Amino acid sequence: MNIHASIQDLREALLPHRRAGRRIGLVPTMGNLHRGHLALVEAARAQCDVVVTSIFVNPLQFGPNEDLDNYPRTLDDDLTKLREGGCDLVFTPTPALMYPRGMANQTLVQVPEVSEGLCGGSRPGHFDGVSTVVNMLFNIVQPDVACFGEKDYQQLAVIRRMVQDLHLPIDILGVPTVREASGLALSSRNGYLSDEQRATAARLQGTLAELRTALEAGADIDTQLHQGLESLRRAGFEPDYLELRALDLSNVTATTHDAILLAAARLGTTRLIDNLALTLAR
Ligand code: PAF
Repeated sequence: MNIHASIQDLREALLPHRRAGRRIGLVPTMGNLHRGHLALVEAARAQCDVVVTSIFVNPLQFGPNEDLDNYPRTLDDDLTKLREGGCDLVFTPTPALMYPRGMANQTLVQVPEVSEGLCGGSRPGHFDGVSTVVNMLFNIVQPDVACFGEKDYQQLAVIRRMVQDLHLPIDILGVPTVREASGLALSSRNGYLSDEQRATAARLQGTLAELRTALEAGADIDTQLHQGLESLRRAGFEPDYLELRALDLSNVTATTHDAILLAAARLGTTRLIDNLALTLAR
């Protein structure tokens, strides 16, 4: 496995593969890798001849009061996991390499509609930072396929829409969320949780599962969402949102069948997100 900290080195390493017609897969990450990330590498491996993973804690997608400085940086461990996980090349740029003019003067990619509301509502500018850096990574690596986790459902929708709108010749692969036995979705931010909070954190998926059962049986949506919020609060969460949307994140209408519950909630200072797809009784 080769590690490249410069854009030119990475491009030179990819050139012979591209010329040989090999399929290139990209897994963009912010490091602190867990089994969820390794599932992305595995999915890329299954579809591609060459797998590139980027590790970059992207300052552009963090708000002023968010956890950029404390975000876990575990490069040595990450490289060991990627080597064992079958990754071929790793790209490890710095903020100065990615944003040489500084972030205030950076050209931005803004994806309308799907970036608004949900996490976009509570983290203003977050998805502009995500779509901008992902577009840069796409331009640098020029992958055939790029893999993203379904846990970040809105992020996946934003990237799919960006790829469509900008006519990028890249297949976007959504990879199912990897969970602990308790149901807690794996996330780099789980490391911030105390043992007690970790036990409570599984109630986020548990609450969504209870709502799914009720909604699939035909219960009233607004009543269920209200009860879901109450149940999260009782468990010790401070909910940010709990919503039901159509799979493309548009609002649910009387004819929507396939839908998705999306939630974000804080446990202490840790913000967790999760989602669960369902079929509405109609
Ligand atoms: O999901 C993440 O880890 C990040 O948002 C991503 C896609 C690597 C962009 O920085």
